[in-house]
Amino acid sequence: MSDFVHKAVMLGEVLETLRPKSGGVYVDGTVGGAGHAAAILTASSPTGWLYGCDRDGAAVETARQRLTDFAGRFELRQGNFAELDTWVPAEQCDGILLDLGVSSPQLDQAERGFSFQQDGPLDMRMDRAQALTAAELVNTASAEHLAAIFWEFGGERDSRRFARAIVRRREQNPFSTTRELAELIERLAPRRGAKAHPATKVFQALRLAVNDEIGSLERGLESTVKLLRPGGRLAVITFHSLEDRVVKDFGRVWTRDYTFTGGVDVPELREPRAPELRWVSRKAIKPSTRELAENPRARSAQLRVLEKLPERSA
Ligand SMILES: C[S@@+](CC[C@H](N)C(=O)[O-])C[C@H]1O[C@@H](n2cnc3c(N)ncnc32)[C@H](O)[C@@H]1O
Repeated sequence: MSDFVHKAVMLGEVLETLRPKSGGVYVDGTVGGAGHAAAILTASSPTGWLYGCDRDGAAVETARQRLTDFAGRFELRQGNFAELDTWVPAEQCDGILLDLGVSSPQLDQAERGFSFQQDGPLDMRMDRAQALTAAELVNTASAEHLAAIFWEFGGERDSRRFARAIVRRREQNPFSTTRELAELIERLAPRRGAKAHPATKVFQALRLAVNDEIGSLERGLESTVKLLRPGGRLAVITFHSLEDRVVKDFGRVWTRDYTFTGGVDVPELREPRAPELRWVSRKAIKPSTRELAENPRARSAQLRVLEKLPERSA
């Protein structure tokens, strides 16, 4: 699909931290339009290898076309990065990239149903073979469940009021399009000059829920630890605080030099252990002002990098 165009975010920073080299093995768990993947393959010429995946079949197809010049140096699969450890060899990877969220084509193509700015089916599935769509969720979940989604995944303060109104309206007329939902929210919370559309948080929350994005991220991060070789690096680009918190929590657990023992009837104890990962930089890396001026979608991006430590005998 030649209309799948996505500008890779923080490309220079990703290359600086993953330092691709010939003979190295890399993973792009969110291959999208293959901007990062092509750059990693170029930088690791002539013999670097890349395993790539994306949940979106259209993205994998585009990536395959974009990477034809690198034939024989990559393997691409459609799938969730949470399952990378089922097909990528263990402890072989020098660098892994997860560039989270949605791609520009997913947002821009009205028929994918991600955007409240365009009218399309209320879909939001990254993997179009998945049964659950946003319409299904909005038309069948209880008001309590919807409110919990809007609050937990969107931080929407009006979560309960919106959820109740959705349930009332669907009794007469179930939702089928993005515009129907966006208009209902706009009626409930008129914009009154605010910069962000009032449905922004609801749409983000539904997208995260439909695709189980937070659960996938938690499982995906765990699976990458098995794939990295000592000295190998994991780079994660997040786009909102919820994702970033998951990465920080994951890093905190894997970089600490103790673990907890104990249980229900036994006092909790800290046991020393060798940490498996280290933070490459303490603070999140942000896009340059130049990139921000050129690509507004980089606005909320943050890059965090962890490195696998060599095994140490205790
Ligand atoms: C920001 S885009 C990646 C763009 C890509 N780095 C590039 O250079 O074109 C995010 C991509 O990740 C995919 N994605 C999101 N969550 C995923 C998951 N759990 N497993 C696999 N792919 C996922 C989306 O379908 C989307 O194509």
